Amino acid sequence: MENGKWRAAVVTLSDKGYRGEREDKSGPAVCEMLREAGYDVQKNILLPDEQTEIEKCLCKLCDDEKMDIIFTTGGTGFSPRDCTPEATMAVATRNAPGIAEAMRLASLKITPRAMLSRGASVIRNRTLIINLPGSPKAARENLEAVLPSLDHGLEILTGSGGECGQP
Ligand code: MTE
Repeated sequence: MENGKWRAAVVTLSDKGYRGEREDKSGPAVCEMLREAGYDVQKNILLPDEQTEIEKCLCKLCDDEKMDIIFTTGGTGFSPRDCTPEATMAVATRNAPGIAEAMRLASLKITPRAMLSRGASVIRNRTLIINLPGSPKAARENLEAVLPSLDHGLEILTGSGGECGQP
């Protein structure tokens, strides 16, 4: 938290985006939604679907850059190169499955293909990491589903919160 705002990073995972073969629209869309919701978005990073690289990046953002929250977008599907959930789980210190469950529950009301996202939500020490799917539409819809509840979770995680009341 800095100046009353959560420190956030957005990491887009896309081989095509990284090679410049496709314009990354999901990262900027997620950044825009977060800024509108009052987050201090400090990083917007584009990486290929390489598990070791993703793990390194997540660890740096948590351990060195002390982000409160990291959103990834892309690499959650069934393609052989999709490895975002594996990288995310590998750096986790605790599971926080309810966020991914809530995103899939809300998304299933929009498209049955929501079941094809393997996105995870975890905690690494004092940082929350949330996987969003890769298309700008899917990323927006998934983020919308959980955004209103994240503030309270972050307050508890970082020890800056009060009582666990209803919204
Ligand atoms: N969730 C929502 N809300 N809206 C969508 O359009 N697309 C699905 C799913 N989740 C979708 C969604 C599809 S088609 C896929 S393949 C998975 O997210 C995984 O996407 P990814 O591989 O781009 O991460």
